[in-house]
Amino acid sequence: MKVLITGGAGYIGSHTAVELIAAGHDICVVDNYSNSSPAAIDRIRMLTDRPFNAYDCDVRDRERLMAVFAGEKPDAVIHFAGLKAVGESVQKPLEYYSNNLTSTTVLLDCMRENGCKIIVFSSSATVYGSENPVPFREDMPEGATSSPYGTTKKFIERILTDVAAADSSLSVSLLRYFNPVGAHPSGVLGENPNGIPNNLMPFIMKVAAGKIPELTVFGGDYPTPDGTCLRDYIHVVDLAKGHVKALDRAAGRTGTEIFNLGTGKPTSVLEIIRAFEKASGKPLNYKVGPRREGDIPMCYSDPSKAKRDLGWTADLTIDDMCRDSWNFISKNPNGYDA
Ligand code: NAD
Ligand code: WQD
Repeated sequence: MKVLITGGAGYIGSHTAVELIAAGHDICVVDNYSNSSPAAIDRIRMLTDRPFNAYDCDVRDRERLMAVFAGEKPDAVIHFAGLKAVGESVQKPLEYYSNNLTSTTVLLDCMRENGCKIIVFSSSATVYGSENPVPFREDMPEGATSSPYGTTKKFIERILTDVAAADSSLSVSLLRYFNPVGAHPSGVLGENPNGIPNNLMPFIMKVAAGKIPELTVFGGDYPTPDGTCLRDYIHVVDLAKGHVKALDRAAGRTGTEIFNLGTGKPTSVLEIIRAFEKASGKPLNYKVGPRREGDIPMCYSDPSKAKRDLGWTADLTIDDMCRDSWNFISKNPNGYDA
């Protein structure tokens, strides 16, 4: 299949590009590099042997995107492009709704005009909200989202579901990621966000690399075994392989399907810190501070649907995730722009 990857220079998109090529697919990438760098494209090329085109293009730019579709004629799209910082979305809701929703509707329009029938979308565990009991299952009702970012995921899931209901030839896969971490084992690809990181693992990596003095653990008084929040951390390479499996299944089907992509195993913040210290062989400077607004105590998946229907499981461990993150930051202390 020829797969158009929006946001393919980003963290998850770049790892997925590598796994798609390894599985025999052709790809092309569209990215506006708002949270990435063209260096990521060079890195994908270092790890793969199949030529592909990458376009500096905002997905909201219909004219340019139509030209990409006309030239590339993709059979399927994996839609990663979007803004993803939860806290920033509270400060800049309009930017988040504009970027994430408009990019999706423009993309769907271009797909329709060009007869492209398959879309796989990067959704998030955030759509389960705080009301549902863990582990989260796909048949649970969506919960209340706690940020405009989360609401964009909920709205986009609805838009895609409605569009698939109106066009019976469309195949929509909604992949709800839990907490992606880790890096490609080569150390060539990893998480390389622009600016100060928001998520736990990139923050830990910056502290370990000496770029930030100290990590604050957000809350030590949660109703969990060690008082810190539990999350379902998933290695980005396992996550990328989940996209290949989702695409294989989508090719033979129409309608909308939802899959959790997680390990099903909860891990606390302190357990992540210990595992990272083991991987790096040195202590990490941290302190326990107050809770962060909007955090829920526990968030982890029931991954059995993806196992049953996609034949996919996340096999890499927390130690693998920390080892590969440490390997990446050790080889790239200044990210891709060193
Ligand atoms: P990322 O920021 O590394 O990648 C997103 C990419 O999209 C970036 O390269 C950015 O430059 C690009 N982009 C943003 N807006 C664009 C636009 N309008 N046109 C073209 N390119 C645009 O993020 P990621 O971690 O790789 O996440 C990928 C997707 O997965 C996002 O939709 C994110 O919301 C979703 N997701 C991420 C996580 C996570 O924790 N990383 C969890 C759940 C869901
Ligand atoms: C993980 C744990 C923090 C930073 C977010 C989004 C979610 C999804 C994944 C996109 C929490 C703690 C963090 C720090 C800390 N993204 N932490 N100190 O909040 O589980 O999920 O990313 O869809 O939608 O909400 O991820 O990495 O920010 O936090 O103690 O400096 O680490 O409190 O328990 P989160 P995270």
